[in-house]
Amino acid sequence: MASKKINLAVLISGSGSNLQALIDACARDDFPARIAVVLSNKGDAFGLTRAQKAGIPTEVISHKDHDGREPFEAAIIKALTPYAPDLICLAGFMRILTPHFINHWGAQRMINIHPSLLPDYKGLNTHQRAIDDDKDTAGCTVHFVAPEVDSGEIITQKQVPIHPDDTAETLAKRVLVQEHIAYPEAVERVAKTLLPQ
Ligand code: GRF
Repeated sequence: MASKKINLAVLISGSGSNLQALIDACARDDFPARIAVVLSNKGDAFGLTRAQKAGIPTEVISHKDHDGREPFEAAIIKALTPYAPDLICLAGFMRILTPHFINHWGAQRMINIHPSLLPDYKGLNTHQRAIDDDKDTAGCTVHFVAPEVDSGEIITQKQVPIHPDDTAETLAKRVLVQEHIAYPEAVERVAKTLLPQ
């Protein structure tokens, strides 16, 4: 890698507010990454508009156009490869990925953001489950992706309090503020390990 920035491929399925946090971070001269491409499995994901506004190339690969996970993932690999990504960032990408796809990019080359303090609350509905369990703290985790869903080495976590009157929606908003801090921090940390010293 000759440059002082690594290439990111950001995979989304929806709003892309975490993508926006990465776009904003990458706008800094001293941030050690640039977004080479944003890929969505949904053509109407608002994150695609965010990417286009920032002048970032976009790709849409719908799982509905492919007969099974393997052809879907092969299409993603074909679409991303020309952008030479050094790190794949899952940012609200709502498809489960096979070990083959994860390993294709090399060891520790894919990261994800999850809206809970892993290993607690893997999977969906994290905020409601934390409220139902009377927890007083919630948060988010950025972690390397391993074949088992929502596992893999933790890069960073941020905590927020759960208030007695919280709903899943109010808690999600509080956690999301921290996600937008955690994801760029994690990318910066990983990128520095990938760049030549
Ligand atoms: C975030 O809560 C993230 O933790 C989860 O999916 C959501 C994506 O939100 N994996 P956004 O599309 O980044 O706004």
